[in-house]
Amino acid sequence: MLNRRNWLRQSVLATAGAALLAPAGLEALNDRQGKLYERLADPGSDEAYWEMVKSQFTFAPGLTYFNNGSLGACPDHVTQATNQFRKTLDGFPSKYMWGGWDDEKEAVREKVAKTFAVSPETIALIHNTTEGMNLIASSMELSEGDEVLLSSHEHTSARVPWKYWQERKGVVLKDVELPLLPESREEIVDLFRRAITPKTKVISIVHVTNTNGMRLPVREISDMAHEQGVLVAVDGAQSMGMFQINLDELGCDFFTSSSHKWLFSPKGMGIFYARAEAQKLLKPLIVCRGWEDTSIRRLENYNTRNLPELLGLGAALDFRALIGQERIENRVFELKHYFRELLSKDDRFVLKTPAADGLSAGIQTVEVRDKQVLEVKSSLTKDYGIDCRPMTSHDINGVRISLAIYCTKADVDRLVRALSS
Ligand SMILES: Cc1ncc(COP(=O)(O)O)c(C=O)c1O
Repeated sequence: MLNRRNWLRQSVLATAGAALLAPAGLEALNDRQGKLYERLADPGSDEAYWEMVKSQFTFAPGLTYFNNGSLGACPDHVTQATNQFRKTLDGFPSKYMWGGWDDEKEAVREKVAKTFAVSPETIALIHNTTEGMNLIASSMELSEGDEVLLSSHEHTSARVPWKYWQERKGVVLKDVELPLLPESREEIVDLFRRAITPKTKVISIVHVTNTNGMRLPVREISDMAHEQGVLVAVDGAQSMGMFQINLDELGCDFFTSSSHKWLFSPKGMGIFYARAEAQKLLKPLIVCRGWEDTSIRRLENYNTRNLPELLGLGAALDFRALIGQERIENRVFELKHYFRELLSKDDRFVLKTPAADGLSAGIQTVEVRDKQVLEVKSSLTKDYGIDCRPMTSHDINGVRISLAIYCTKADVDRLVRALSS
């Protein structure tokens, strides 16, 4: 049960950050955390609650941020916690870097595992999705002529590793062309089913595309692929934190993400999941002292590393736990529906993202008829202080809007007014 006392006690800041604090500092810390608990744990009235959540983030003056898909922001609580960890580390560097924070690091792994409903023994704490995809692609023992299926919407960070580590050996990379607006999840599963041949060894797919926010049916593709002895790797950079995920139930073999996007952790942290039975297929990208470890920790054995950011991920999960995973997911869908409903009132807007909740969530891409996207994006930035990502690939001429929990309905109203002008 998440009550005030429990939350304060299990908060990563309360343990790791407090290590070197004088009693007065400790008091201030507890006070700050107590206030945060009181604010976030009370749902209050709807829009006022989300305005208050937004107030926990400090964006540059005048900026309205709809670009979480490029990079998330840390709530102030997470920034302060991470700064505290940096201070603690620099108070006694050799102690904290090599062993002094072992328990705290494991506590973060446990929090990640709990958030995504898996065993901590399936979770490695890495730096980002790019690293996770390199880890998968470099590990696979594939031979000339073997095939890897990718979707046509893979991010370069999930495509280049396969090119670099496997295509050069004669492994064939095949793209499965995805429609921008599929009618159903089954339509996507069918495309992959038809692309599999006896030579297919791996399907490597994005969970939510960075282009138009399309959500791929990972569970169904994994079930179908496993029946044919094909492994499934998932790039979850845009999905982890956007909606609830039970990693085991997703059914894939490997899943990797960057927590600096939808989980709001400090930059340079990532999460890697490997199903227990698939772990033996993985070879660490980096080896050093301690390489004999056979647990999943061998995949995150970098010697000196970014521990304040790693512990900051724990603080980000504490922050999210106060709001609640379900409430976060519901809010993302609420914003999506609100945004789409406003756009539907003006036929100059053409949505490039599938409507069904099973096919999209917190990323929506929209074209403004008869306008070049770069022009639209430049006016949003210059005239309205709105940041979002212009998309020009895959026949899209639209702005990609990320709807994260710090976006309010008033922000969405402003965005739609700006797009209409
Ligand atoms: C779908 C997808 N995969 C991978 C990445 C790469 O993320 P990172 O730079 O954190 O490794 C991104 C970044 O935007 C992305 O959108």
